[in-house]
Amino acid sequence: MLDITKIRANFPILHQQVNGKPLVYFDNAATSQKPQLVIDSISNYYKTINANIHRGVHTLSQLATNAYEEARKKIQINFNAKYAHEIIFTRGTTESINLISSGFSQLLNKGDEVIISYLEHHSNIVPWQLVCEKSGAVLKVIPINEKGELLMEAFDKLLSDKTKLVAVNHISNTLGTINPVKEIIAKAHQVGAVVLIDGAQAAPHLKVDVQDLDCDFYCVSAHKMYGPTGIGFLYGKEAQLNKIPPYHGGGEMIKTVTFEKTTYAELPHKFEAGTPNIAGGIAFGTAIDYINSIGVENIAQQERSLLVYGTEKLLEIPGLRIYGTSSKKASVISFNIEGIHPYDIGSIIDKLGIAVRTGHHCTQPIMDFYKIPGTVRASFAFYNTKEEIDAMVLAVKKAKQMLS
Ligand code: ALA
Repeated sequence: MLDITKIRANFPILHQQVNGKPLVYFDNAATSQKPQLVIDSISNYYKTINANIHRGVHTLSQLATNAYEEARKKIQINFNAKYAHEIIFTRGTTESINLISSGFSQLLNKGDEVIISYLEHHSNIVPWQLVCEKSGAVLKVIPINEKGELLMEAFDKLLSDKTKLVAVNHISNTLGTINPVKEIIAKAHQVGAVVLIDGAQAAPHLKVDVQDLDCDFYCVSAHKMYGPTGIGFLYGKEAQLNKIPPYHGGGEMIKTVTFEKTTYAELPHKFEAGTPNIAGGIAFGTAIDYINSIGVENIAQQERSLLVYGTEKLLEIPGLRIYGTSSKKASVISFNIEGIHPYDIGSIIDKLGIAVRTGHHCTQPIMDFYKIPGTVRASFAFYNTKEEIDAMVLAVKKAKQMLS
């Protein structure tokens, strides 16, 4: 059992009042809060070793380079990539997906097929639409059932030798469904397709092993894993990354430049043009150390108990419906109350100190599937408590009374 009081002491932001009430932060799927260690890591970097990396012979530059590369190594080990150079630092999941989709716009031909799913965030839909428009490839979509689970028989039927790439999320940001990605990857590989997994929502909650999954690409954002915003990574198998052309051109990503021809640097630098978010990368490494000091299993267990408790308590409210009812679910509860707009509930409970996200959560196709304008989404992290869930349920009941 985790000592939640002790854990909460690590997160300065949690101890404030919002609108005169103790903050209850249930918007962790949008971004998680940051422990003091991560905040200190950013400020220590600027206070002690700030310098540009991979460029200088001077001591600070070497210290900064070492710290940044050490963070890459931590990510490699944590996600069990075979090589550190298979970890490409990016601004986050969206940029990681765009790096691959933009590369594929040169690798796909007319009539090729790309498969995504109904559960995707817009960031794993729009890049593929752009690629299909450019290349003449066709976009196919794995449908879902009422519980918000992928229909795997339908996926089987979509797969063919035309399928070149499958891009799905590991966990749905809106419904919390944990998708059978290992099975999806194995099936896609049988027809020779490569697989990209959007791991933005999974990395904070599960132990992810990219070699065990056997995915070709895996995309993560640090800010959902208690790290800073503006940094994340793309994992790619070495052989696959070598097939992808550079994404950004600039300094650091080249081997030689003449006006006639440029040759590119080896992985990972080929994809890392320009001065990166050095402090962010280092602090991402600190966030991974922090997660490991708590234990991913302990985190998952605490979040599971919050999910079960929150589901049970919310369902006691008459007229409340939860969207996303798979038995394989992360700690996300999307709900609506009959006849009330989600935005109205979100605004009223905010006045009571409760932070949730309302709207379509960048997943308009899921809203269309359920024929709703949006949901109220409460997403829990391991620092949340059952008492906070009680406060939210009480607030939702008040909102319901005011709006009915
Ligand atoms: N993708 C983030 C969310 O689900 C922003 O809220």
